Amino acid sequence: MQTSPSQIQIENVSRLFGQTAALDNVSVSLDAGDFSVLLGPSGCGKSTLLRLIAGLDRQTSGAIRIGGTDVGDLPPSARDLSMVFQSYALFPHLSVAENILFGLKVRRVSKAERLQRLNQVAAMMGLSALLARKPSELSGGQQQRVALARAVISERPICLMDEPLSNLDAKLRADMRVELRAIQQKLGLTVVYVTHDQIEAMTMADRIIVMSAGRIEQVGTPEEVYARPATVFTAGFIGTPPMNLFPGRLFAGQEGLKGGAGEGHLIGLRPEDLSVAARGPEAELRGVEYLGADRLVSARLGDTDFIMRMPASAAPPPARFALGWAEGHESIFDAATGTRLTQFDHPTASQPKKDLTHETA
Ligand SMILES: Nc1ncnc2c1ncn2[C@@H]1O[C@H](COP(=O)(O)OP(=O)(O)OP(=O)(O)O)[C@@H](O)[C@H]1O
Ligand SMILES: [Mg+2]
Repeated sequence: MQTSPSQIQIENVSRLFGQTAALDNVSVSLDAGDFSVLLGPSGCGKSTLLRLIAGLDRQTSGAIRIGGTDVGDLPPSARDLSMVFQSYALFPHLSVAENILFGLKVRRVSKAERLQRLNQVAAMMGLSALLARKPSELSGGQQQRVALARAVISERPICLMDEPLSNLDAKLRADMRVELRAIQQKLGLTVVYVTHDQIEAMTMADRIIVMSAGRIEQVGTPEEVYARPATVFTAGFIGTPPMNLFPGRLFAGQEGLKGGAGEGHLIGLRPEDLSVAARGPEAELRGVEYLGADRLVSARLGDTDFIMRMPASAAPPPARFALGWAEGHESIFDAATGTRLTQFDHPTASQPKKDLTHETA
């Protein structure tokens, strides 16, 4: 298979800071034209990996290829990529127009072409009326759009973004998620996007790379990591509230549990996969939270607390109730290692769903 110029391959990359491994033998291939999201908790190595791709830092071992070429010796400016940071990094003394054009001047694009591209990008980003202002005269969302416009106007095929929305309020963040995704698709950009916010990852990503403690836990579509988390870590990190994890013994002897899972296993069930049933292990109600469209029910099974999501139209459960679950939706993990036991998965369900449009493009 031919390598696209924007494909990014990370091969056995480690980055040590003294004794700490910020990245520990990480390998992943990011497809051209994809919106790839590096997702994980603070300190897991997301920014470190992004900085290595950008060329702002050097790995201790391993290789990074862009378009099949080892970029180890290329400075950031030679890697044909743009970057957007959390801090926007706008120049306070320059106007919006000058900020957007800054990189182009450095690259010696003709004045006529600069103005044409500026007008185009400003219109696309809703900045046309703001071009004469200084960054201090803009809202947070507008500043973020200027930072984005600066990346977009460079027309570089790869854009790296490190938590670009984290300084915005919730409403703006939601709007910008949609805008960012639309621009990426319109321009066919290859985006590598860092966040610790799983909602951002779920809503924008073609592929999510779930990271923990310098390692990759799982690579998959949002649907894959949600429905079939590869590890207990991913199960607990993705989903609001996250997947419930029950010691297998609590379900011992229950009919209908995937392939007779039980002792030595953890049974993962999403809040929406649980229900009040006619029979099943007996659970104890602890509290009910009304959220409008649905209710979150806190309950306990044996010594394990869990959360169940019910439609608000359904009556809350009684003080003690039989716990039912959507059969076939269980994720079964090895309790000792925390890894998913795929032998319990339905054979077709464990096939990764590959989007073939990227292969033929
Ligand atoms: N220059 C450095 N010197 C020493 N340690 C570093 C350096 N940069 C990062 N680290 C360490 O490497 C690990 C990964 O850091 P990194 O910034 O990649 O995390 P992150 O996933 O981006 O976290 P956050 O979500 O908080 O931004 C952390 O333990 C961090 O303390
Ligand atoms: Mg970071």
